[in-house]
Amino acid sequence: MHSAPFTVAIDGPAAAGKGTISRAIAEHFGFAHLDTGLLYRAVGALALEGANPIEAAQALQPEALEGGRLRTAEVAQAASRVAAIPEVRSALLEFQREFARRPGGAVLDGRDICTVICPDADVQLFVTASAETRAERRWRELSAKGDDRTLEQVLDDVRIRDTRDSERDAAPMRPAEGAQIVDTSEMSIEEAIATAISYVERRKGFDRN
Ligand code: DC
Repeated sequence: MHSAPFTVAIDGPAAAGKGTISRAIAEHFGFAHLDTGLLYRAVGALALEGANPIEAAQALQPEALEGGRLRTAEVAQAASRVAAIPEVRSALLEFQREFARRPGGAVLDGRDICTVICPDADVQLFVTASAETRAERRWRELSAKGDDRTLEQVLDDVRIRDTRDSERDAAPMRPAEGAQIVDTSEMSIEEAIATAISYVERRKGFDRN
């Protein structure tokens, strides 16, 4: 077991499988998991209710991270908009870095975890897939929940967020130089999880030697 903090940083676009992979790594190694998108979603949801996004980020409370509403497409777009505001990002930075230093190990997933939040993470992954594959996965999930949005609408949403998240000036989404790219387009979820776990295993083994 590691006594020093062990951090796994995972970035990538919406619906590439980051969340599933992060949860599986956390469970497998007993690490804590932070879905950093939820922080931006919580601020986005408050902004939709009329709050000033910078003040909302500075005063964010843990209760704001709960609730099914944060998972809606409307809140996802609002999250992507507030995430382009530098003061919103800086208000959320220290909480994320603190989380990454947990003694028992931590996995964080988002868009700028490898590039900005944890540039020294023990393992850095960029989990991606084609926009079409990601939209189809998201559309299947939504359809199963009774949502009647079409595949084209979901693909549009994915593309709008990809463009906004990767072209903004503040901490744009991009693979960090040292990150392993995991393209899940042609992988089953089990294969994607096994690939990610093998990178962590390798690094943990390396650290022991
Ligand atoms: O991962 P997600 O879909 O829940 O993220 C919602 C939005 O939040 C995403 O479109 C961009 C933003 N985000 C970000 O800018 N940086 C992060 N570390 C995580 C999310």
